[in-house]
Amino acid sequence: LNLILVGPPGAGKGTQAERLTEDFNLPYFATGNILRAAVADGTDLGKQAKAFMDAGDLVPDEVIIGVILEALQGEDASDGFLLDGFPRTVPQADALGEALDKVGRSLTAVLLIDVDDDEVVRRLSGRRTCVKSGHTYHVEFDPPKHADVCDQDGSRLVQRDDDKPDTIRKRLSVYHEQTEPLVAYYDDRDLLRRFDGTRRPTEVHDHIRATVATLR
Ligand code: AP5
Ligand code: ZN
Repeated sequence: LNLILVGPPGAGKGTQAERLTEDFNLPYFATGNILRAAVADGTDLGKQAKAFMDAGDLVPDEVIIGVILEALQGEDASDGFLLDGFPRTVPQADALGEALDKVGRSLTAVLLIDVDDDEVVRRLSGRRTCVKSGHTYHVEFDPPKHADVCDQDGSRLVQRDDDKPDTIRKRLSVYHEQTEPLVAYYDDRDLLRRFDGTRRPTEVHDHIRATVATLR
């Protein structure tokens, strides 16, 4: 299974990915998590990415494409993968397609999780993220058992720097301009599967899992 998750910021991609990687035992590559770890570690990649991320802009294609293609060439991904947050532009989608072609592989499906802009703002403003592993919670919709502590590994929960109102609006406009064209791009290639992301996390999960199970 070679799967991609797409959708606006806050659609629940990370939330669903946590469940799907367990269901299907897939290696998981989330460019947002990779970039945040690079920023925290102060690597060259992190230094290049930080200003773009803080502003709610995309990191330049030439920076991110190399990172993800290298990750996909690793042994981990040889039997399949779940990509979250990549591709996010048409040039990124072209680069991924070419790289897969070269090694005789192809995408199985592109899973679109759809929610409207108002819901995005509600979700991101209440999101809390685990500093260690990126596990996500919501103060209202998916609260941790103990305030500000990750259920899974006991780490501290914080608000992401880019989950401030102005940055959320900027990320939404970037999504509509630069990422949404991928919906038509993958629909034209008969790869797109749409899911209503406004339902409860367990329902969204049931729908996606049932669809993916038919693709194996
Ligand atoms: P990234 O980390 O990928 O951010 P994003 O796409 O904006 O996605 P999010 O992580 O914000 O949301 P999500 O859909 O995973 O939602 P979640 O499950 O957390 O990217 C960050 C930045 O990195 C970018 O802005 C860019 O700068 C850079 N970047 C990354 N990839 C790049 C690329 N390819 N090219 C260039 N730049 C790149 O859920 C959100 C909240 O809602 C949570 O609180 C959750 O608990 C709650 N929730 C989830 N599902 C439900 C539900 N069904 N009902 C109610 N609440 C729910
Ligand atoms: Zn955690």
